[in-house]
Amino acid sequence: MNQLKHTTFLICFLTGIISWSQNYEAKVDSLMKLMTLQEKIGQTVMYSGSWDQTGPIVGTDNGRYIREGNLGAMLNAFTVKGTRDLQKIAIEESRLGIPLLFGYDVIHGHRTIFPINLGMSCSWDLNMVEESSRIAAEEASAEGLHWTFAPMVDISREPRWGRISEGAGEDVYLGSQIAKAYVKGFQGDDLSQPNTILACAKHYVAYGAAQAGRDYHTVNMGEGELRNVYLPPFKATVDAGVETFMSAFNELNGVPTSGNKFTLRDILRDEWNFKGFVVSDYTSINELVPHGFAKDSIDAARIGMNAGVDMDMVGKLYHHFLKDLVEEGQVPERYVDDACRRILLAKYKLGLFEDPYRYINEERENTTKYKPEFLAKAREIAAASSVLLQNNREALPLSKSTNKIAFIGPLVKDEYDILGNWAAKGDRQGKAVSVFEGISEYLKSNQILYAKGCDILKDDESGFAEAISVSKQAEEIVLVMGEGHHMSGEAASRTNLKIPGLQPKLIKKIREANPNKKITLVIMNGRPLNLSEEVGLVDAILEVWFPGTMGGAATADLLFGEVNPSGKLTVTFPRNVGQVPIYYNMKNTGRPIPETNPKEDYKSNYIDVPNSPLFSFGYGLSYTQFTYSNLTLSSKTLDANGTLEASVTITNSGNMDGHEIVQLYIHDKVGSVTRPVKELKGFEKIFLKKGESKKVSFSISIEDLKFYNSDMIFGVEPGEFEIAIAPNSEFKFNTSFYLE
Ligand code: NOJ
Repeated sequence: MNQLKHTTFLICFLTGIISWSQNYEAKVDSLMKLMTLQEKIGQTVMYSGSWDQTGPIVGTDNGRYIREGNLGAMLNAFTVKGTRDLQKIAIEESRLGIPLLFGYDVIHGHRTIFPINLGMSCSWDLNMVEESSRIAAEEASAEGLHWTFAPMVDISREPRWGRISEGAGEDVYLGSQIAKAYVKGFQGDDLSQPNTILACAKHYVAYGAAQAGRDYHTVNMGEGELRNVYLPPFKATVDAGVETFMSAFNELNGVPTSGNKFTLRDILRDEWNFKGFVVSDYTSINELVPHGFAKDSIDAARIGMNAGVDMDMVGKLYHHFLKDLVEEGQVPERYVDDACRRILLAKYKLGLFEDPYRYINEERENTTKYKPEFLAKAREIAAASSVLLQNNREALPLSKSTNKIAFIGPLVKDEYDILGNWAAKGDRQGKAVSVFEGISEYLKSNQILYAKGCDILKDDESGFAEAISVSKQAEEIVLVMGEGHHMSGEAASRTNLKIPGLQPKLIKKIREANPNKKITLVIMNGRPLNLSEEVGLVDAILEVWFPGTMGGAATADLLFGEVNPSGKLTVTFPRNVGQVPIYYNMKNTGRPIPETNPKEDYKSNYIDVPNSPLFSFGYGLSYTQFTYSNLTLSSKTLDANGTLEASVTITNSGNMDGHEIVQLYIHDKVGSVTRPVKELKGFEKIFLKKGESKKVSFSISIEDLKFYNSDMIFGVEPGEFEIAIAPNSEFKFNTSFYLE
């Protein structure tokens, strides 16, 4: 009997496991009876492999730790070969042969890269979000991975914050729906299937409200805002069965979230009954020391475990200090037991005790990545995620029969930045379809003129002359510009929201040289940008975010009208950085600007720019037009047990078939705590052929009207509620109902 068989047999025999169908809790209990305290602690320890690093390298002696039973999980370690080598050590050389868990940041795709998450949210398409994470799970699990550190469900109203790119935007309702869709896609229906992986709701909590948008910065907010805005997407993932949570880097009201008993134990465990495990962020327990919350590393380990962080991501603290802390009575042993139990339970659910090599299969690894159907889906999703922000003079769609079109800008031929940040193992060379390649499907080479013009960031105008000359030779001009992929994501906050470098200057020069030509700006970026100048310089603006592996093909599909744009913004675009934070569901204040006299003094406004954003939440154009008519309510009143139906007729009154994202908003006019001026409460994405009409209905019950009041009680208050069904958040209510 070889060592593997021997160890597996030993565990089965000793724990009295007869059938794998027995319940996992009992199996975990039996196994834990065999474990020493240090071995239990070992399960709470995660170190990094060398495939990727997102912070300081802390653990370098992984093989020894695994052998000693001091390591339960690894991140940044994958591929069939890599995980097999490590798993073999755990199974064959550690005393109890407990399998390792392999995690990685599979954020918007693993090999096949989808648009960045903020982009994907603009599709408002829950099926697409789920499909993207299903495909990501297929590819990641085929390379030995069991666990992704996704979805990031942080609400953010902060475009300066680079990580806004990883979330679903500013809205709590939409964010919660999208959060669930990701979890379903990653975890599937049955975790023991080798193509499903554990999801991780991060970063718990309020990380997206970092002061001044600076990453890792302080967060202060009242409990009402925390509960009404920042917690619900996390709660939604618990409802969807998410298996893991990640505690965040930030402090919240003076208590760092990786040492925060209130959020981790009182809310997550006691209120929500979350049964999975919590992993820290990368060294976030160690960071309790610089936060000024722990006096040294030992103290940090004590606080982290006592607060409810079950696993220490690369921080080495649990590994080195937890045993003494338990023996000295500073950490109750049951906390370690609970943490270990939850982690083992996840391993059982994944089927790793039944077959630790279940995810390790060369054939699957070789045949799964970049499947044609994955790429086709990535193309479809990238097109659905793009938002047409402006289309003056019907500059778009372009015509295939135009003699010459000039494509200008540093991102025209790019196949590197187009994947965006956190692009897991998406190949940044040789795989992604650039915009240049994409348009080549639509135009012959003699119709295409190209000039790079400038770099994204370099201060070098030497390419301007060629770009201007090329622009003059063309009938129409398409600029492909934006941020570099490294300008958003972790530790990539900006104070300036303009298109970076010399690109804005080049846009001006091109407009000066071509005063009457139609100019389209295709923009790639990881956050809302300040496009206030550009809206006056170009005719059309197509926001494609970082659209991923098939991004160039999808962009071309939109530019030439093969696909009709349908994405709508999930985050507000400010007029300038001074308006930030700006979001649609704000409060009215005691001095709102009067509609009849917007310039009236001593009102809540700016003296230099209007309060309104440049592009608002929910906004996005199409090549066709949709008209909304006949808003009808089934009743003027709603009672506690009933529902009310609101419906509207949407007509495609333009000349092209297309999708429309229909949005339901309410306004609770008077509350014991003030309520936002508008709140999204429903949406539906519909397809209408040109000339076609459809009735869209939403059902509203008191569940949709609940909020946390000042006593932190979740409930409804009777009174008048305004209601609207609209194409975006910029509308005025003109009807209402009463809750009795
Ligand atoms: C730090 C990031 O904050 C988190 O999102 C990520 O999952 C971990 N590093 C692991 O890479």
